Amino acid sequence: MSQLTDEINRRRTFAIISHPDAGKTTLTEKLLLFGGAIHIAGAVKSNKIKKTATSDWMEIEKQRGISVATSVMGFEYNGYKINILDTPGHQDFAEDTFRTLTAVDSVIIVVDVAKGVEQQTRRLMEVCRMRNTPVIIFVNKLDREGRDPFDILDELEQELKINVRPLSWPINIGAKFKGVYNIHENSLDLFTPDKQKVTERVEIENINDPRIDEAVGITDAAKLREDLELIEGVYPEFDEKVYLEGKVAPVFFGSALNTFGVKELLDCFVKIAPSPRPIVAEEREVRPEEEHFSGFVFKIHANMDPNHRSCIAFVKICSGKFERNAPYRHIRSGKTLKFAAPTAFMAQKKSIVDEAYPGDIVGIPDTGNFKIGDTITSSETLHFKGLPSFSPEMFKYIENSDPMKSKQLEKGVQQLMDEGVAQLFTNQFNGRKLIGTVGQLQFEVIQYRLLHEYGAQCRWEPISLYKACWIESSNPVALENFKKRKHQFMALDREGRDVFLADSAYVLQMAQNDFPDIKFHQTSEF
Ligand code: G4P
Repeated sequence: MSQLTDEINRRRTFAIISHPDAGKTTLTEKLLLFGGAIHIAGAVKSNKIKKTATSDWMEIEKQRGISVATSVMGFEYNGYKINILDTPGHQDFAEDTFRTLTAVDSVIIVVDVAKGVEQQTRRLMEVCRMRNTPVIIFVNKLDREGRDPFDILDELEQELKINVRPLSWPINIGAKFKGVYNIHENSLDLFTPDKQKVTERVEIENINDPRIDEAVGITDAAKLREDLELIEGVYPEFDEKVYLEGKVAPVFFGSALNTFGVKELLDCFVKIAPSPRPIVAEEREVRPEEEHFSGFVFKIHANMDPNHRSCIAFVKICSGKFERNAPYRHIRSGKTLKFAAPTAFMAQKKSIVDEAYPGDIVGIPDTGNFKIGDTITSSETLHFKGLPSFSPEMFKYIENSDPMKSKQLEKGVQQLMDEGVAQLFTNQFNGRKLIGTVGQLQFEVIQYRLLHEYGAQCRWEPISLYKACWIESSNPVALENFKKRKHQFMALDREGRDVFLADSAYVLQMAQNDFPDIKFHQTSEF
């Protein structure tokens, strides 16, 4: 095997997704501990800062700085090169979060055993489903009182709309939590509530081994056998192939805070999770082991320094070997660019790299060449398909508050939209510009950044909208009729596509009933 194939096969690029507080930061930190990337628990601090009051502008600045550092965390584990991509959550939940999922090959979902599946997880799972991303689920906080594990499994299936298959099983929960039985390798791990100690393992032959009774007591051992029998009866054998197709999610139970069940998760993850997969470009499918380099920008991070409008473009490498200072083609502009200072992220440190492989993420300092979704290649014309835009959930009109700075405002809005901070629509009826976001904080961030980075002042004016839907029809007359009838509610997105602004679910429903020839889409690609 060539060096390139070796490097590809040992790479695992994934994201951990969860609802705030389910334990994503804690789990990330424990994974980094196993990888030797950090040495003490408590080193991944970003989350603590993210949780503080967001109305404090200093905090926004701080967050942005920190999220560069934690955007990608690379580490080595048992010969694997692991890249964890951070998915911003919390109040700053944005389209950015969705887009990060275009750059990963698989996902670990963390669920709090007491709370079950929550809103943000559900939305992110929709993106995984669209892309058939393989998913592993970690049910966390077993040391606390929570739900019955069978109920949790049912909820996971229903809420995440994916089949599940437990690969470990808890013995009790909360104060009585005794440990987990690892179904896939027939072993028993006993729980000791101790943050630094690693699992105590009981060697057993199989589920009928009397050593289980000795370790957890006769009653719990009997219950465990009963549970496992039920599991074997209800859930089909775990099939790696089906997992890789994104059709079944293996489930693990544990406690991230207590480092319990984390190593089992990691060991199984590196074994079954996919290495970089082929990626579909408009022109053709691109395989990672192809000799020629290609990659795409999935995230742009504006820099802290408002005087230099520099930023970091995060490029996911799709094929071939990336080399520092090699001439690469930026497809959208046609320019040839050389990157003198690409950075990689290892063990929470950012350093200049000379080369990187498919699955890796490099950060490229940039001063305005890149847009989200841009493709870079060694020469071939390729356009990687990004993630479609999703209909935003919050809308406001953006107005200029300083007539002397309208150019600055326009430029600022353009660039922030290129960065993927929010979506811009132009109302065709009154010509006003509308910004749509998926989180309230984005409006504050936009206003703040326009002022600090572009010297432009904006104000927000309310508009009550339910959804912006992209519309199409195979019947051009019907489309024109619709646009005429609804002319007050028609807008164009930045690419000039028709968008219908529905002010309530009822209005949307009525429009769908009245215009059966028109298709209403909640995403921009259909
Ligand atoms: P997030 O990134 O998903 O938002 O969650 P994070 O890891 O910050 O965890 C949220 C809270 O849950 C933290 O408590 C963390 O310590 C706790 N936690 C994580 N895993 C477990 C677990 O397995 N068991 C228990 N009992 N708690 C867990 P906090 O009070 O917000 O922070 P801290 O002061 O304890 O660090």
